Amino acid sequence: MSEDAVERYKRLVESIKNCTKCPLHLSRKNSVPGEGPLNADIMVVGEAPGRSEDEQGRPFVGAAGKLLDRLLKEAGLERGKVYITNVVKCRPPNNRDPKPEEITACLPYLLEQVRLVKPKVIIAVGRIAGSTLYKAAGLKWGGVRRERGKAVKARLAGIDVVIVSTYHPAAALYNPQLKEDLESDFKGHIRKAVEDALKGRAPKTLEDFIPLGPEPGGPKVGSRGYVEAGGEGEGSGGKGQGKA
Ligand code: URA
Ligand code: SF4
Repeated sequence: MSEDAVERYKRLVESIKNCTKCPLHLSRKNSVPGEGPLNADIMVVGEAPGRSEDEQGRPFVGAAGKLLDRLLKEAGLERGKVYITNVVKCRPPNNRDPKPEEITACLPYLLEQVRLVKPKVIIAVGRIAGSTLYKAAGLKWGGVRRERGKAVKARLAGIDVVIVSTYHPAAALYNPQLKEDLESDFKGHIRKAVEDALKGRAPKTLEDFIPLGPEPGGPKVGSRGYVEAGGEGEGSGGKGQGKA
């Protein structure tokens, strides 16, 4: 992490703290920029701060955060080693979904975080995180149920990353089936993507990102088994790809 990057990061945090670019600033107690090592290989992106996060100015510190911490362990990760943030940095009233225009207003902050941290893997938790990241990378989002299980190559803010998606931990708090699915995702495709990245097996150069085929219409599988997101036609569910 160069000094320049640290300076840029500090400026970014200040901008987020003082931001008035969308109406969410009106009801927040604290904006929640994110936290974690700036040289993290893994980034977690959630939806938006909830009540506890708004009070403390820190991401994922409430009940969903406790579950996230446990899930990260299933993937062989420690919370302290990943960079954690959200799509929008201020709490929507009553935890409603962030509106498209709020996401658009806030997205430059997330993209700058990606540029500075340069993660190898981004774990998108929930529909809002997954759909926003895919869209920002020019990929077609097929819904959490279709996208979970995939490790998707993406170029985001000029950075080559692998995006893995799953459900949101908050949704699983009162839904045992979802919680089981989340656990199997963190033990399965997420853990694998993380291990590949940390072994240096994740695609790193532009050539690594040129899909090698196979057929038009189906999910394009690169040389290392990474799936292209949003392939047109029936194959785009990517069945079996990376599933545990
Ligand atoms: N849910 C989120 O999406 N983010 C948080 O930081 C906390 C709960
Ligand atoms: Fe600014 Fe994002 Fe907060 Fe909206 S949600 S006020 S864009 S920091």
